[in-house]
Amino acid sequence: MAGNITFTMIKPTAMRKGYMADILGQIAKGGFTIKAMKLTRLTKEEAMRFYAVHSERPFFDGLTDFMSSGPIIAAVLEKENAVQAYRDYIGATNPSDAAEGTIRALFGTNIEANAVHGSDSDENAIIESNFYFSSREWV
Ligand code: RTP
Ligand code: MG
Repeated sequence: MAGNITFTMIKPTAMRKGYMADILGQIAKGGFTIKAMKLTRLTKEEAMRFYAVHSERPFFDGLTDFMSSGPIIAAVLEKENAVQAYRDYIGATNPSDAAEGTIRALFGTNIEANAVHGSDSDENAIIESNFYFSSREWV
């Protein structure tokens, strides 16, 4: 059975462009409830640890430089079938391929600076949430 938790980050470019509040509004409009949230910043080492599954990919170094380049929002979201529902709601990895009205189509800049992260499985949603939050930080 699909779980009801996913994890998201608002990425540095979207934060620099001032989209934080608009993206949080869009998340709420999509029926996702915020269970934990923080404004934070990753070091290069933390970004490498978070994205370790991509360590062999050609974009790994650029991605981890980018993700440690400025403040981000990290948040745990709740909705029925959250992982798939949120991936549908944010759209394709490349904003130019993302369906109209999705978060990446609305707020993404390019394939790397694509506004938000969304977990790809229930298992990773929990691992990623635990990377940022202690149980005390969930409401
Ligand atoms: P995410 O993990 O951020 O939700 O994105 P995703 O599942 O749609 O894409 P994934 O394949 O997991 O890639 C993780 C992030 O790496 C950057 N990326 N850059 N330059 C490139 O070709 C490239 N491909 C991926 C993006 O920031 C992507 O979200
Ligand atoms: Mg992914």
